[in-house]
Amino acid sequence: MQSKSNLYDLLGIEEVFTPEESPIHRFYRIKSIAERCKRCRLHSTRTQVVFGFGNIASGVMVIGEAPGGNEDIYGKPFIGKAGERFSSILKEYGIERDRDFYITNVVKCRPPKNRDPQKDEIQACEPFLVAQIKIIKPKLFLALGRYSAAWLLGLKREPSMKEIRGKILVSKFNVPLIVTYHPSTVDHARNPEWRNFALNAIREDLKLFAEKIKEIQQS
Ligand code: URA
Repeated sequence: MQSKSNLYDLLGIEEVFTPEESPIHRFYRIKSIAERCKRCRLHSTRTQVVFGFGNIASGVMVIGEAPGGNEDIYGKPFIGKAGERFSSILKEYGIERDRDFYITNVVKCRPPKNRDPQKDEIQACEPFLVAQIKIIKPKLFLALGRYSAAWLLGLKREPSMKEIRGKILVSKFNVPLIVTYHPSTVDHARNPEWRNFALNAIREDLKLFAEKIKEIQQS
């Protein structure tokens, strides 16, 4: 007999899980559901859904805001300027994005003109992120920017980054969480002092993140 899952309730979809379904099969089936999603207005302007990319067996998840222009075209998160900066800093610390973590966003479709994601869009997309977390079962999160930090901390408002970055917090999933500035902060900074501050802060936070990943890999 087939049983209805929590995800059925969450997504309101006419699909059922079979108890014998493997986590990987389930993951890719949820991805295919996401690819047909029309739960918010962003479906009408997207080129494609950017579900996420990376190693789902790594036990580590990085969560950003929303896809930008390049991501919308190629279907992979963090492949524009901000993503390149992020990946190259991590490489210096011995971390490879496709091998050492899974990366996704709180919102899976590009907001028009790369505007900030809206509350109802984050809410509409939430079941997909919850499903990804339930299957990946991360031992460590990295939040890139205030939207994913707020979501992972269960806060109603976006927090002040200065207060929450640079340390290990505990997410609402009871999993350790490191928060850093969104890498695009550096590109958008007009003030050179602020730009240097943000870049140094990101470097420090990613060093801590890399150390924690290595601890997880050795345990
Ligand atoms: N910014 C994000 O938050 N996510 C992406 O995938 C790309 C840019």
